[in-house]
Amino acid sequence: MENIVLANQLKHDTLFHHQQLEKLVVGKIKNMNSLAGYHDLLNHFYSFFAGLEDLISEKTVQPYLEDYLARRKSQNLVTDIIGCGGEISEKAPKMALPVINNAVQAMGALYVIEGSTLGGQIISKMIFRQLNFVNHDCLSYFIGYGSQTETMWMRFKQSINEIGEADAPELIRTANETFIKFKAWIEKNDREKELQQ
Ligand code: HEM
Repeated sequence: MENIVLANQLKHDTLFHHQQLEKLVVGKIKNMNSLAGYHDLLNHFYSFFAGLEDLISEKTVQPYLEDYLARRKSQNLVTDIIGCGGEISEKAPKMALPVINNAVQAMGALYVIEGSTLGGQIISKMIFRQLNFVNHDCLSYFIGYGSQTETMWMRFKQSINEIGEADAPELIRTANETFIKFKAWIEKNDREKELQQ
């Protein structure tokens, strides 16, 4: 039977860590005053999400997410970074990433990746204004699915709701682990950058 409440429970049980991450990212955008700062932000996302993508394959998520390959990937970040004059950072090592050994864990991490397309609609507008961009060329990642965002998110939530009740704790644990580790990764990169200056 379809578990109709799981997506709602997942939202509720990860809200705290979403808010913590959101605060950090909003602060970074508000303090951003150059393209170099934007390259840094994109590289935080690239290094973590590209590392994460390497742990998730179409085959791993196949039981739940049929359109995995059609979903936004870290390649958009490469396009934005290179296209806007930056350099690509190395991917995050496995120890900095959540543990992904099965489809349920992969869906937990993908919840964070896919959910960030919702925040992305706000983030892209904030960056556009903050850096006085004249076009949207450097914003393909955060714009993501654009007008299709809501449809893609609804479809993703349906896939979440196909996960059985017994797997719910593992799904929620991995989603929270992904939020926590992403925030820790950004903070670690920032500390290292400060020490270099
Ligand atoms: C400036 C930073 C951010 C803002 C302002 C923001 C804002 C939002 C908003 C308004 C929603 C709800 C949209 C809706 O219900 O229609 C949302 C959902 C979500 N965001 Fe963020 N977000 C930010 C950053 C992030 C980041 C960096 C991630 C992950 C890497 C993320 C993950 C999620 C997830 C998973 C959801 C789905 C919640 C649900 O289950 O409905 N957000 N965000």
